[in-house]
Amino acid sequence: MFDQTSVSAPTAVAAGPVIRCALFPPSPAHGASVEVKGLIDLILTRYHETHRREFPQAIALARKVEAVHAGDADCPRSLADHLAFMADDLESHQQREEQVLFPMILGGGSPMIRFPIGRMMAEHKDVEEQLVRLRALTRDHSAPPGACATWRTLVNACRKLDLDLHEHMRLENDVLFAPFLS
Ligand SMILES: [Fe+2]
Ligand SMILES: [Fe+2]
Repeated sequence: MFDQTSVSAPTAVAAGPVIRCALFPPSPAHGASVEVKGLIDLILTRYHETHRREFPQAIALARKVEAVHAGDADCPRSLADHLAFMADDLESHQQREEQVLFPMILGGGSPMIRFPIGRMMAEHKDVEEQLVRLRALTRDHSAPPGACATWRTLVNACRKLDLDLHEHMRLENDVLFAPFLS
């Protein structure tokens, strides 16, 4: 049974679409709709909730580094503001996935579902552009020699956000959404 305690949107649907993907191949013991529910549960717990926890941590680290090292030529400029902008954008995106698109998918979809999916995929491209700027601001997620522990922790946090967001979007685009667009 799908654990609804880990999600913030209603997801109780008895019969979903028959969707096959490489990550969760169909099994005789578990119907395809269970696999789709499992994939959505993974996205919610491993990515949505992780981003919600880790963005504020990275923003706090960036504000601290930018304040303490303001006179250092290598210090990132406007990194905290950029992270805060990304977090706000992402929260809106994730809420619409959780409240609208994921319940539609769990309900079996409809011919109209390609429109919200197209909107989400366009927003994923925006996130990719935001990540390009994030890498520029952090010099490809590197700290200069002799950087303090907070600075090193900050670039490591930004690297993880970058990797997690790419994997999150790849799962949605290529595994969860793709069957509805073919
Ligand atoms: Fe998502
Ligand atoms: Fe998304």
